[in-house]
Parts: sequence; structure tokens; C-alpha cells
Amino acid sequence: MPSNAHNSAQERRGDPCIFVIFGASGDLTKRKLIPALYNLRCHDLLPKDFAVIGVARRELDDGSFRNQLGDDIHQFATQQVDEAVWAEFKDKIYFCKGDFDNQDTFNALGKMLEEVGKKHNTGGNVLFYLATPPQAFTTVITELGKSGLANQNGNWRRVIVEKPFGHDLESARVMNRDIGKVLQENQIYRIDHYLGKETVQNILVFRFGNGIFEPVWNRRYIDHVQITVGESLGVEGRGGYYDTAGVLRDMIQNHMFMLLALVAMEPPSSIKGDAVRNEKVKVLEAIRPFEPEDVLQNTVRGQYGPGTFMDKAVPGYRQETKVPPNSTTETFAALKLFVDNWRWAGVPFYLRSGKRLAKRATEIAIQFRVAPLRLFGDMLEDPIGPNRLILHIQPTEGITVQVRAKTPGPTIRTQRIKLEFNYKDFGEAAATGYERLLYDCMVGDSTLFHRTDMVEAAWKIATPVLDVWKSLPPRDFPNYASGTWGPQAANTLLERDGNSWRNLE
Ligand code: BG6
Repeated sequence: MPSNAHNSAQERRGDPCIFVIFGASGDLTKRKLIPALYNLRCHDLLPKDFAVIGVARRELDDGSFRNQLGDDIHQFATQQVDEAVWAEFKDKIYFCKGDFDNQDTFNALGKMLEEVGKKHNTGGNVLFYLATPPQAFTTVITELGKSGLANQNGNWRRVIVEKPFGHDLESARVMNRDIGKVLQENQIYRIDHYLGKETVQNILVFRFGNGIFEPVWNRRYIDHVQITVGESLGVEGRGGYYDTAGVLRDMIQNHMFMLLALVAMEPPSSIKGDAVRNEKVKVLEAIRPFEPEDVLQNTVRGQYGPGTFMDKAVPGYRQETKVPPNSTTETFAALKLFVDNWRWAGVPFYLRSGKRLAKRATEIAIQFRVAPLRLFGDMLEDPIGPNRLILHIQPTEGITVQVRAKTPGPTIRTQRIKLEFNYKDFGEAAATGYERLLYDCMVGDSTLFHRTDMVEAAWKIATPVLDVWKSLPPRDFPNYASGTWGPQAANTLLERDGNSWRNLE
């Protein structure tokens, strides 16, 4: 039985600080950030000397902001709210009203940081979280620079930047350059919420905390890797943003490339500091660049049309709010990639992600080569299949190894069985997935955050695909019905290699 006991010797509380949220009246604040801070408080990992300042345009004051968050926490907390803990936490929350492009806002915020800092004894450390639309990222950071609020003066000032970080290689470079005028790299925390998921963090532990996987983790034993991030929902009112992005920018360039990097990276020399990020960036840099012809051969894009989900009729993408009726934005993509290094040469990595697919399921399937000699070839109760190791990222969280075993009985017959581990067995309370990430910022550990070179390396892979797609608008959109696994071409992509997507039904 797994144990969930924490090793308190390894854990210390975050440094005293003020947590400033730009965009405090938005969804992220109420759904994730405040519940995550609350959970950290319950784990006793939040500093005792701590305060939150929300910045937004909305007409609120400290009292009404606290009341609103009080209602929200009861809706979005991942566990039963302990009223005494919340009452104490709530008194550390403040509100600063203002526009992000107005210097007055930053002057007012500066005054407030001093007052709140004195009152709560936070010692000058400030963590700024940009929970704003992406257009505001550079504006806010520039204003932080002008007003001196990013100056460290013996304390620390750190900035968490949400995604999307640019919309192609060029814009990401410009953004890196502009924010680099104000902040040093070690002050910038480019967040990727996938890296906060337990199952994603476990990939490194699974690979490098055990001695049995590394010897077979290479082209000699692995046939190919499949990574699926399937979403059953549509764009859910985010059509305005999504139509400028598409799934390649929204999911693949960031979250999925990170999953791939975790699977493919070399063992780091340490799990601290830059060692892990150095290895991740090497994987991204080893991905074979897409020439225009490769884009035609090795990528598939799709857009959902109307269909049914859970027996209910659902609209197509072009019928969603704020989506133009002739939109050519892709809501599905499948890619075949190669990591051109000694470990992986010739091993295909197939990635697919989409909205309105048949099921919400994220998993990484490592498919091994079949046994060299078919000793039991005619004794099978089901067709011979390769061994697979499946890392179930969500919503079912666990690990499965598919192997062959003898069916009980007087003759030798074999069948496929599963060796399974379920995260549920830990019995750990649910979390938002932001706890570890916010905590890491408070202790200055940027291992799980994207570095400048990682962002640019990821855009270097994605941008040529986007360019070809842009120059050849799709003629067959919508090309998959809601509630299915995407366009037929995504199956053909694997069938050409004699492979097929794992059935996730
Ligand atoms: C976000 C994307 O980064 O991740 C969304 O912008 C997507 O479009 C979401 O729905 C998926 O996150 P999760 O944690 O639900 O898999």
C-alpha cells in the first residue's frame, strides 16, 4: 500500500512574501490560485509572514474582494474548507484597483506593498503573478520596471508569467528581449500547469528513481512513443482567444513538448537547479526540424464539426461564440516527430491533441519492440501484441504495464494482462495542480518552469508547421465530428508505419 506521509525534514515553508495577482478578478484566481494557496496553508508550506494583493480594474475594495473570494473558495476548494483557517487567511488579502497600463496603478501598488509588507512582516520579497490576457504581459513587466517594483534591493522580486508565451518564434524572442530589459532570467517563472500535475512530476521519479527502466529506455527496445492529450470539451466560451491560437499553440508547443522532453531526456546530474532544464532543452533541440514537405507528410490538422457528446447534440467549432463562421483554426492536430540523437534515432514520437474528442484522456504510451522469437505464437487467446508501458496522466492517474501471461489450465495458452498502479491508492486529498508550482516560486526553485532557451526551442519546432498551415488553408474543415477521435488522416499517419493509436475507449 503506498504511503502519503510527507518527509518534513525535506520541506520548509516558503520565504516570507507578498503574492501579487494581476488579473485578480479573473477565473484563474478563483479556480486555481486562491485554492492552491489555501491548500499550501493547510500543508503548512505557506510562509507565516504572508499576504496577497489582488490587482484588477473592477470596482472592489479589500472587504468586497475578501467576501467574493470567500464565496469562491467554497465553490472551488479541492477539499472541505476549514473555516478557522480560511478566516485567518482571508485577513491577509488586499485589493488594489487600477489599469495595467497606467503608472498610477503601480505607484499605488508600491505604496500598498510597503504598508502591507510592514504589517505582515514580509521583508520586501514579492511574487508577481500575471494572470492577465497575454497582451498585458510585457506592459505589466515594463511598468514594474519603470516604477522600480522589480528591483531586488537585497530581497527577491519574482514574476510568474502565464502562457501563451508568444505566438511564434519571432514574437517569443521579442517578448524574451523586452522582459529581459527589466528582469534577470532567475526572476522569471514561465509557468506550465502540466508540470505541476502529480503524474507529470512522477515521470522523472519513475524513470530515474528506479534502476530497471533506463537500460531498456532507448531505440533498441522501444518501437515508438504515443502521447495523447484528449479533451472532450469544446472551446467553452474562449473562442475569441482560441481562434487566434489553435491546438498547436495552445497545447502542443508547450504542454506536450514538455511531456515529450520528460520522456526522452537523458538522466540529469541532479534534480535541482538547471540540470533538469538543460536536459529538456537538449531534447527539444534534437527534434528534427520540419521542412515544408515533412509538414505535409507528418502532420494532420482538424476542426470539429457538430456531433454528440454523452448523448447530447453539441455544436461545431464554427458555431461556437466568438468564432468566425469560416474559421480555419485547427482544434485537433497529430504530429510525427523524431528526436535525432543516439538514444532515439529512428524512433517515431506520435503526438495528438484535440478538443471535442471522444474522451478526456491524457496518456503517454511507450510501445516496446515485440519479443524476438514467437515461442508462443500459436498458443495465444488474443493476437500477439507488443509490451506497452502506459503513463496515465489524467483523469485516471496511474501506470499500466501490459505483458503476456499464461492462462491457467493444463495446456499452454497465453493472454495479455495488465500490471497496474493507481494513484487513488495513495489516498491523497485532491489538489489544483498549482500548489507545487507556487511553492517552488516561494523557495526560488525554477526547475519546473520554462527557460528562455526552452521556449524558443519549442517555437523553432512549431513555427515551420504553422507557416505551412497558414500558406495552405485547409479545404476540408470541419473534418471530424464532435465526440470522435479526430480526422481519419490521424489514423493514416500511424497506419503508414504499420502502427495504430492505442484505443482509449
Ligand atoms: C490550457 C489550454 O493550457 O490547458 C486549454 O489553454 C486546455 O485550452 C487546458 O483546455 C487543459 O488543461 P487540463 O489541465 O484540463 O488538461
